[in-house]
Amino acid sequence: MTGSTSFPKLRRTRHEVEADIRQFKSLDMCTKPNNRLMTGIHKGSQQVHEVCRAAYNEYFHTNAVLADMEQGLGQMQNDVLRWTVGLLNGGAEGRANMMVGGSESIFCAVHAAREWARENLPNAKEPYEIVMPRTAHAAFDKAAHYLGLKMNRIAAGSDFRADVDALDSAVTPNTIMIVGSAPCWGFGLVDPIPEIASVAEKHGLWMHVDCCVGGFLLPFMERLGMTLPVFDFRLEAVSSISADLHKHGFAAKPASTVSYRSEALQKYHNTGVAIDNWQCGMYKSHGVVGSRPGSAVAAAWAVMSYLGEEGYMDITRQTFAIKEKMIAGIESIEDFKVLRNESLLVPFRSNSLEMLNVFGGLVERGYFPWGTFDPMYVHPSAEPVDEIVIDQFLGDLAEIGQGVREGVITAEALATYIGN
Ligand SMILES: Cc1ncc(COP(=O)(O)O)c(C=O)c1O
Repeated sequence: MTGSTSFPKLRRTRHEVEADIRQFKSLDMCTKPNNRLMTGIHKGSQQVHEVCRAAYNEYFHTNAVLADMEQGLGQMQNDVLRWTVGLLNGGAEGRANMMVGGSESIFCAVHAAREWARENLPNAKEPYEIVMPRTAHAAFDKAAHYLGLKMNRIAAGSDFRADVDALDSAVTPNTIMIVGSAPCWGFGLVDPIPEIASVAEKHGLWMHVDCCVGGFLLPFMERLGMTLPVFDFRLEAVSSISADLHKHGFAAKPASTVSYRSEALQKYHNTGVAIDNWQCGMYKSHGVVGSRPGSAVAAAWAVMSYLGEEGYMDITRQTFAIKEKMIAGIESIEDFKVLRNESLLVPFRSNSLEMLNVFGGLVERGYFPWGTFDPMYVHPSAEPVDEIVIDQFLGDLAEIGQGVREGVITAEALATYIGN
């Protein structure tokens, strides 16, 4: 927190406020069109974006904590959840809860696993343990900390996928949960989920698949005939799956889902958090948060019903063609190599250039680079954007490569970026 704490004294005109908002927006890197490949914000096509925005505006200033009591909002939320369970092959048994994001979905799954263990794993002693590959998302560490579980992160294999034997060996009598990512955020790689499921089965663990990135992408890749391991409820050992609507579902933030294999497992989602001794009456929300925007539910419903399977498949096909173009362009620049994976992330690195300086060069040119630090990869994500955005990115990258090689581009610009 910087600056004065005095509350604004006088009113201002709407015009002044709107001008300030535009000024703030002009300062932000992620709102720039040239940054569309770097933001992790997935809009689908322009038409999808407009459908999403119209539904969001229609339901602006509504509260989805009441969705189960509102006929219209409730119907849309119910549709979104049932469609999600269907997409993840959960069948009639599957159940889901509406979440505000992947972190909440993961939090609720860890909570459900803990409550399940308290009832079903009498030999496991608290603090319980979660075993997962190092590449799984940081949201698990947060959840484990809040919920009093111990994290046991296991180094991934040399291909950056989960090392299944090492996961198996790391299971102790107090391990209750095992996790695989489909895909992980850093490298965009899908872990060997069927093999992890076998470990879960062998030890009787709760298995969670983090499909936050893949939940609304992998099903359509499969339908397009791309080769993937089975990653969802088709595997008997999978207990829960997180899938973000606000990623490749193309919905507006904040929208995600956590699905359970059955009502019997979903029951643990609610253990201890359906409050019935409050003076305001029974209180039960879908997840950790109470109030949340009904607009996000309406927007998710609108996009899913606008696109249908057909539309998602079209966008997926189109975006993979763009990914190929990005790979070819990046690899045509001296010494850059792309890590092949099963998602739309395009992680690349150079063995001869200092990657920190490449990050610095991207920031210097107004990009917002994400990636990994060990080893260092920059990972843009392919998006159905205009050719010009890709050409500009590739042109900038070639110049950055050259500048780093000549020693004129350094990591200096990163200081402001990290400072923010
Ligand atoms: C694989 C994965 N899991 C979980 C999350 C957390 O999602 P959120 O930022 O919506 O809380 C992310 C976010 O990028 C992710 O990539």
